[in-house]
Amino acid sequence: MAILTVRNLAVGYDRRSVLENIDFEISAGDYFCIVGENGSGKTTLMKTILGLISPVSGMIEYGDNLERKQIGYLPQQTDAQRDFPASVYEIVLSGCQNGLGNRFFYSSKQKALALKQIDKMGLTNLKNRCYRELSGGQQQRVLLARALCATSRVLLLDEPVSGLDPQMTEEMYQLIHGLNEEGLTIIMISHDLDNVKKYANKIYGVPSEGSNQEGGMQVC
Ligand SMILES: Nc1ncnc2c1ncn2[C@@H]1O[C@H](COP(=O)(O)OP(=O)(O)OP(=O)(O)O)[C@@H](O)[C@H]1O
Ligand SMILES: [Mg+2]
Repeated sequence: MAILTVRNLAVGYDRRSVLENIDFEISAGDYFCIVGENGSGKTTLMKTILGLISPVSGMIEYGDNLERKQIGYLPQQTDAQRDFPASVYEIVLSGCQNGLGNRFFYSSKQKALALKQIDKMGLTNLKNRCYRELSGGQQQRVLLARALCATSRVLLLDEPVSGLDPQMTEEMYQLIHGLNEEGLTIIMISHDLDNVKKYANKIYGVPSEGSNQEGGMQVC
């Protein structure tokens, strides 16, 4: 059963499309990768799926009782974000924000969930450290733990291995693969075609103007 269906979608800003004619279907348990050139609209597409940006036109449908707030998100990192002055624990716990409802404070259940995800990502000994003092690979694991606080169903990852060395990249792919094996649906943007082909069961190529790159979905 499709967990997410995208039909004839156009995404962009101020009603101007940066990417059009997007069609794909994602099923529960898929490892779905989005590839394409810099500036082709991949992040814009991901933000539209999350509801952070309205579609210019077309349709996004959630299936299998999936709600938007059940989607975990690891955003593409900018240098400014890497400098964020908060502890590992605080950042991971902020992933529980969707579940706060009308309350101002995190519940003990949410705090326990944050600690569980910190442990799962092998970060327990770093939990009180300041995020900006961590290595790039450790920071990405913190953001993965944060995204996991929001979901046990669908994870959206925007270039999770960007800037990591080969060993850290491999570790990150192993963690994501393990989560997919546990049943999480993975939707990932990556420029790393070798690993995309190794792990993904569906690949969506974003079409880009001015190059020969054709868009569309490929089932591996
Ligand atoms: N907030 C914004 N307002 C207007 N235009 C934007 C905004 N953010 C991005 N764009 C433009 O939309 C286009 C697509 O950007 P997007 O960030 O989605 O590309 P991308 O495929 O994720 O690129 P990269 O591989 O470099 O991350 C670019 O031309 C960009 O300049
Ligand atoms: Mg991007």
